[in-house]
Amino acid sequence: MIVNVKDILADAKKGGYAVGAFNTVNLETTQAILKAAYELRSPVIIQVTEKTMDYTGGRAIFNLIKNIAEFYYPNVPVGIHLDHGKSFEVIERAVEVGITSVMYDGSRKNYADNVAMTKKIAEFCKGKGVHIQAELGNVPYFGEVGVIDINWDDYMTDPAQAEKFVQETGVDALAVAVGNAHDFAKEREIPDFARLEMIRKVVDVPLIMHGASDWTAEKAKEAIEKGISCFNVDTAIRLAFVNSLINRVKNKEEMSFDLRKILGESRDQVEDAVKDKIKIFGSDGRA
Ligand code: G3H
Ligand code: 13P
Ligand code: ZN
Repeated sequence: MIVNVKDILADAKKGGYAVGAFNTVNLETTQAILKAAYELRSPVIIQVTEKTMDYTGGRAIFNLIKNIAEFYYPNVPVGIHLDHGKSFEVIERAVEVGITSVMYDGSRKNYADNVAMTKKIAEFCKGKGVHIQAELGNVPYFGEVGVIDINWDDYMTDPAQAEKFVQETGVDALAVAVGNAHDFAKEREIPDFARLEMIRKVVDVPLIMHGASDWTAEKAKEAIEKGISCFNVDTAIRLAFVNSLINRVKNKEEMSFDLRKILGESRDQVEDAVKDKIKIFGSDGRA
């Protein structure tokens, strides 16, 4: 059942658990996410990026998710979301294909420009009944962090600024930076949980954690206790998919040219990875 991301996040915030927002790029990943959510009776967010819409076609991936969710898993609450939209055009494109929850990512801009653009996009979204997430601070990627230590102070979300940012832009959810990094890149040794708690105190909208799909259960649970309502998960499930393919190729005796067998095994591995996350986040049994 397709539901609004706003409701999924509101329930998670109220219930003191987090929901997973899992990135998909294809049929198998989508099926794996939905089957895991169904078996664990969990609400779930499935998200796509601009690159994925370019790869699959926006309409194709949106309708793939929607059709599988509605036809095969009518009892699973599923939100469909655009992850890391970096321009007005890509947000418009996502809304045009039917996506009703988007992230505008202006985190690489200076504060004033991030506010101005986020506000403009939030107004557009409100007019269309679309839920909007933004990012303040900066959750770096592997290429940005590299392997050497960075000055994490340059990346962190400032709590006072976050309070102002949400008021000024009117966004519905906020992605925060507390030492987390995308792509299993080198992170701050310990996330700044005190900062997260401060942000939670002054910001009322649901808080989203990006770049933490490599976190231990202990770390993730602490983040939930301190106020996170949603974790974005991409790298962990991409790795599960690709590792399965690599193992197949290495094990040549098992080699087959039946794509359904090969991709079916990857799908099973992704399903297991999604289930692990759902259990850690505590969204199992909530649907
Ligand atoms: O943070 C977002 C994703 O992990 C990157 O996804 O390669 O589809 O842009 P992308
Ligand atoms: P990971 O790279 O830790 O999976 O984070 C994904 C993410 O934040 C997508 O927006
Ligand atoms: Zn992200």
